[in-house]
Amino acid sequence: TKAPVKVTVTGAAGQIGYALLFRIASGQMLGLDTPVKLSLLEITPALRAAEGTAMELTDCAFPLLESIEITDDATRAFDGTSVALLVGARPRGPGMERGDLLSANGGIFKPQGAALNNGAAEDIRVLVVGNPANSNALIAQQNAPDIPANRFSAMMRLDHNRALAQAAQKLGVSVSDISNMTIWGNHSATQYPDLVHAQFGGRSIAEQVERDWLEGTFIPTVAKRGAAIIEARGASSAASAANAAIDHVHSWVHGTAEGDWTSAGVVSDGSYGIPEGLISGFPVTSTGGDWEIVSDLEIDDFSRARIDASVAELVEERDAIRELGLI
Ligand code: NAI
Repeated sequence: TKAPVKVTVTGAAGQIGYALLFRIASGQMLGLDTPVKLSLLEITPALRAAEGTAMELTDCAFPLLESIEITDDATRAFDGTSVALLVGARPRGPGMERGDLLSANGGIFKPQGAALNNGAAEDIRVLVVGNPANSNALIAQQNAPDIPANRFSAMMRLDHNRALAQAAQKLGVSVSDISNMTIWGNHSATQYPDLVHAQFGGRSIAEQVERDWLEGTFIPTVAKRGAAIIEARGASSAASAANAAIDHVHSWVHGTAEGDWTSAGVVSDGSYGIPEGLISGFPVTSTGGDWEIVSDLEIDDFSRARIDASVAELVEERDAIRELGLI
């Protein structure tokens, strides 16, 4: 077995935390050869609930779980950490404007970025799940100037998995027969799930489905799936979000399959006309080191317009957090 890895989960007492921690501790994220030291970061009033979750983690007697730390101190939680899953965020309350939401989350992600900058391990990888994920990731990244920018990513993987599943159902095939899916742009209703590059049987899926279905059913179903789950379940998607976080880190650490890619929100290098520095959904690969943006894909007019619309929203969010002095 390898040396133990410290993994920090924020919002550990929340819904996603409850669906996520057991899978990390069982080895599904980093592998069955890697012991884990868990650090749970919560706000003070939720520490007791986090202790309850920790009691259950202990009761699972996971062979790979070396230790559990519970704290409301970000400096302590991120000290020496190699994987930080930033799940805890401030949800949009009734009547809350976007500016209020961004500023409330700035109060969380700015100090967390600084704490990561000061104490995280050399090999730190950060995944931001808490919404608005792309902008929260940008705030954390911009406040951690000593950490390479490509160690920060925002979660697009739930949208990616939703898109795989919808396309597989439509074609009547297995999700594992579909490759090269991409979610471009913002993790929001403006996201663009791309079936032009997605493949089944070596061909573009866009060429194998009706245009009406692609535009009128597929894209809105994927983009509005979160709301549909809340409507049906009476609570937001937590198990599928946790699953996507596990998948995201697994692909990052263990690499993506040859010839395939996945989707992640990463810092733009300016490719595909997406302004440099924004954290946008891209097609990405990993060989177990850093995310690499897939280069030189041809973008048709339809995709261009969709990508541009979502990126425009990211630009607005970035301008707003700049104005608030968060970056
Ligand atoms: P939840 O409300 O059940 O849990 C959030 C937890 O975060 C709470 O326990 C809260 O005490 C904690 N928290 C708040 N501020 C904190 C801070 N400063 N430090 C540490 N912990 C803090 O919410 P749930 O369902 O677990 O969702 C968490 C976030 O994930 C939400 O922002 C949600 O919108 C987002 N999400 C993102 C998805 C994505 O695809 N990127 C998918 C689904 C959810």
